[in-house]
Amino acid sequence: MPHRFSNLCLVRHPLIAHKLSFIRERHTTTRDFRRLLSEIAALMTYEVFREFATTPCEVETPLERAAAERITTPITIVPVLRAGLGMTRGVLDLVPEARVGHIGIRRDESTAMPIGYYTKLPSDVSCGPVILVDPMLATGGSSSHALSILRGAGCTDLRLICLVASPEGVGRLLADHPTVRIYTAALDRELDANKYIRPGLGDAGDRTYGTA
Ligand code: PRP
Ligand code: URA
Repeated sequence: MPHRFSNLCLVRHPLIAHKLSFIRERHTTTRDFRRLLSEIAALMTYEVFREFATTPCEVETPLERAAAERITTPITIVPVLRAGLGMTRGVLDLVPEARVGHIGIRRDESTAMPIGYYTKLPSDVSCGPVILVDPMLATGGSSSHALSILRGAGCTDLRLICLVASPEGVGRLLADHPTVRIYTAALDRELDANKYIRPGLGDAGDRTYGTA
């Protein structure tokens, strides 16, 4: 589907579309929501890594030496708490050697402004690619805040994986962090008066943890 954002990669795949249809459903249980979030995150990771460089190496097969390739840079996954945590398992299923940093941000629901409350990153986080994960890119305030924290820690190779993005959020990140590539499974229509994504999937944190 064509769109106007130079920073956006809309990941189109029948399996992702299939799972997205269930995760959007209001009657999907917490248990299924969590599973789907993790599964879609894994499928998105597969697409993100298409761009990663590999280093040639040699391996010893049971029969002879053979040329091979490996990803050798240290990779860091950074979920935005809480909902981003639900994507971490899926990413780690494909990249089990990755380090995991954490950034805690909650949106003040009356102003939609991000409030940061926790940051823990590997001390050498800037040594390799960093993948920020958060299922929802609504106003973009939370992701922009998290990306500023990562830039403050020296990171330059940054990507964001989300599930559902709004045009407003993508535009906000293009203005605030133009070099950061966003991977999303869906670019939805708009934000509503409460700054929720429409059609969206509701409150991702509450649906992941059953706290609605
Ligand atoms: C949700 C979501 C994003 C943020 C998106 O988190 O997981 O972090 O809102 O909104 P924004 O783009 O307008 O900033 P929330 O603040 O509800 O916290 P939670 O995950 O702890 O529920
Ligand atoms: N946070 C969510 O979880 N969902 C939205 O639609 C907007 C912000």
